[in-house]
Amino acid sequence: MPRILVIDDEAAIRDSLRMILEYENYEFAGASNGQDGVAQIQRERPDLVLLDIKMPAMDGMEVLRKIKSIDETLPVIMISGHGTTATAVEAIRSGAIDFLDKPLSSERVIVTIQNTLSQSQLRKENRELKLAMEAKYEIVGNSPALRRVLEAVQRAAPTNATVMLLGESGVGKELVARTIHRNSARAGQRFVQVNCAAIPEELIESELFGHEKGSFTGATEKQIGKFEQADRGTIFLDEIGDMSPKTQAKVLRVLQEQEVERLGSARTIKVDVRVIAATNKNLEEAIQRGEFREDLYFRLNVIPIQVPPLRERREDIPLLVQHFARRTSEEHNLKPKRFDARATEALQRYRWRGNIRELRNAVERLMIMAPGDSIRVEDLPGEVRGAPSLPAPAVEASAATQPAAAGMSSSSTPAPGTLREFKEAAERAFLVDKLRENNWNISKTAEALDTPRSNLYKKLEQYGIKQEADG
Ligand SMILES: Nc1ncnc2c1ncn2[C@@H]1O[C@H](COP(=O)(O)OP(=O)(O)OP(=O)(O)O)[C@@H](O)[C@H]1O
Ligand SMILES: [Mg+2]
Repeated sequence: MPRILVIDDEAAIRDSLRMILEYENYEFAGASNGQDGVAQIQRERPDLVLLDIKMPAMDGMEVLRKIKSIDETLPVIMISGHGTTATAVEAIRSGAIDFLDKPLSSERVIVTIQNTLSQSQLRKENRELKLAMEAKYEIVGNSPALRRVLEAVQRAAPTNATVMLLGESGVGKELVARTIHRNSARAGQRFVQVNCAAIPEELIESELFGHEKGSFTGATEKQIGKFEQADRGTIFLDEIGDMSPKTQAKVLRVLQEQEVERLGSARTIKVDVRVIAATNKNLEEAIQRGEFREDLYFRLNVIPIQVPPLRERREDIPLLVQHFARRTSEEHNLKPKRFDARATEALQRYRWRGNIRELRNAVERLMIMAPGDSIRVEDLPGEVRGAPSLPAPAVEASAATQPAAAGMSSSSTPAPGTLREFKEAAERAFLVDKLRENNWNISKTAEALDTPRSNLYKKLEQYGIKQEADG
């Protein structure tokens, strides 16, 4: 029930408004002078204020200024008597929503209140939505690796240049794409996302380019393609590595000509789109294998931005945890919970293969499921709790190959020079260790490693591993 505060020095006016309002199921509160009114606002935040202009001591204009300094968004309707119309107009300039003339007509009062409340509700929802959107698209983190990404975004965003976002799954490529759009001259236009991996091969062309009614069986209605939808805005081609050769050829043409043809139509339509592409695949390798067109690659790869995996910016994890914890408690109306220092540390040590998406899901789950007011290391899933502590240098390489490190130093392999050599040497030593543990039984070793036997055979051959004479 909306609460309405009436500030008026005349008891008769307060009484009649109380009757009108209570009859319409509003909650009424009254104040006979400005000071009392302001005090009530501070105490109980009404949803709307009816404020008399002419009062002894503090007059309506002064009260209005006070109210606005307390809560700028609180709607105020002035009550104007004889000879105060000019003041009422001035009040509106100072932030009042509307005014009502004395003598008050109950109908006018109710209609004005209803309109004002629904408008202020809309404004409130708008504000909340905007804040929620901003929180949703906020890029959190302060690590040097992330700062480099943000600097590149800042430079690329205002231009029309094609951007290629590279990085593992869950590192925030989509978030970066949206940020580029929001910081471009096209921000007021559409951001159209196409997930090339999710659309079946036979539908993707009509998704991208549209079709005319009746252009193929099943085309019962005309469809506007994503490129056309994104005209003057930005198109985000996600998972670009999953496009078929035929689609690649067509996309290349759009990029070259800046025009599209709907399926079943001979008419070409000019489009002005800014392209952002993303992939978690290694496109250069895909080109080598003949799966991705090199000319399309060069078209797209104008400004490449590599979004680094979370393990290369573990410094960001505490901030991300706080951010996701706050967002979860807001979204699900949960009591805020703190992650204590040891829990945060464990989250920071763990190797998040699904990157930020996996971390976010874990935090969300903990916020919802963990008992107690704070989240402690005991609340974390076993594999996170048990994550090995971070070795000082080369976090990435050692995290990936830790079990092999001991075997390596005892082996006769020469010190590896490149990362690749290091990884291979480590893998080889690791395999030898495991084979020894399992008495060189291939099936058992494969099982222990959770890999197919065929794969293990391939590795043995690749590394020239043979059973030692004495086992
Ligand atoms: N720096 C960040 N700050 C806050 N949230 C982030 C950040 N990076 C990623 N996220 C969040 O993590 C989730 C995964 O990000 P996003 O979908 O952008 O990743 P992606 O690289 O597109 O992954 P995929 O390749 O799997 O599509 C999203 O919910 C996103 O909002
Ligand atoms: Mg994505």
